[in-house]
Amino acid sequence: MITPVILCGGSGTRLWPLSRKSYPKQFVPLVGETTLFQGSARRMTGEGFDKPVVITNSDFRFIVTEQLTEVGIDPGAILIEPEGRNTAPAVLAAALHLHAKDPEAIMLVAPSDHVVPDAAAFQAAVRVGLEAVEAGQLVTFGIKPTRAETGYGYLELSGQPDGRPVALKRFVEKPDAARAEEMVAAGSFMWNAGIFLFKAKDIIAAFEKYAANLMTPVQNALDAGTVDLGFCRLGPDAWAGAEDISIDYAVMEKADNLSVVPFDGGWSDLGGWDAVWRENDKDENGVLLSGEATSIDCENSLLRSDSDRMEIVGIGLKNVMAVAMNDAVLIADMDRAQDVKKAVDALKKKG
Ligand code: GDD
Ligand code: MG
Repeated sequence: MITPVILCGGSGTRLWPLSRKSYPKQFVPLVGETTLFQGSARRMTGEGFDKPVVITNSDFRFIVTEQLTEVGIDPGAILIEPEGRNTAPAVLAAALHLHAKDPEAIMLVAPSDHVVPDAAAFQAAVRVGLEAVEAGQLVTFGIKPTRAETGYGYLELSGQPDGRPVALKRFVEKPDAARAEEMVAAGSFMWNAGIFLFKAKDIIAAFEKYAANLMTPVQNALDAGTVDLGFCRLGPDAWAGAEDISIDYAVMEKADNLSVVPFDGGWSDLGGWDAVWRENDKDENGVLLSGEATSIDCENSLLRSDSDRMEIVGIGLKNVMAVAMNDAVLIADMDRAQDVKKAVDALKKKG
């Protein structure tokens, strides 16, 4: 059995004003009817999958249970972090939790904020990865790069993919633009999808080797954990001593037992409103409307109202994204989608 471990902690500032610290993008329907979190949970159900472990923070705990109930999924455990310390402590906590129950536990670590439309293809890729997991490998999933993106990790393959897991030469997290260009041009690199498959005991061994400083605080936080309304709340004092670091930097860049399963079944991390526009069905003019939204002669645009008191109307717009909430409206050139995080920074400074 594979236990899904769903990471549910980020705040997704590039999808402001919809994605907020208090209600981030993974809990909002952005593609289709269900939320990204619900989509992630559903993708990892069925034959061979055990109940998911969700690791999240206190603010989201009731949203998590409500959204799982809505799609008929019963969680195995919900671990609550006293505060976000990035993905390395979160994954280690889940690994130690599972390992204590079953020393051979296999975990599929997945973010809560990605779109993978073809769940069957995804599950097939996971099954391919099991072969490498049995051999003690830490398995990553590789996406064919289409641009020199600096927000992703890059996987250097040791050979040509042939339908089986390929050993990795190197894992490079978030390179600068020049390095990213080089890696895309080299042709032997893939993007890291941010999804990992391994035995709990193998990732624990990797933490012991490469990020030993996390072992004591995370184990102590679990030991000091309290169970409350079905949630397992990690001990805050111990947790505060865990380094704030991602699993990519803490372990993946250093480990020498990595494999990759290439995945071409469609994947997007919805890193901005342009991606939301791309991933949804649009009208014949390329306009994506949602909520109380009307387009008059617009082209290739996104008009969205998530407000319960505001209509949004676009006239003659081209390549524009406009998103209205009750308390904020974003209007921007679609090509500037990545700059939305600047708006969030600017508003933060204003206070
Ligand atoms: N529980 C918990 N606690 N979850 C967290 C925390 C935390 O402190 N921080 C982040 N997460 C969750 C996010 O909600 C997201 O679902 C997932 O972990 C990944 O975190 P991101 O912050 O979105 O990582 P990233 O996008 O910068 O980079 C990762 O994903 C890329 C692909 O989208 C890396 O793995 C890259 O190598 C990869 O290419
Ligand atoms: Mg991300």
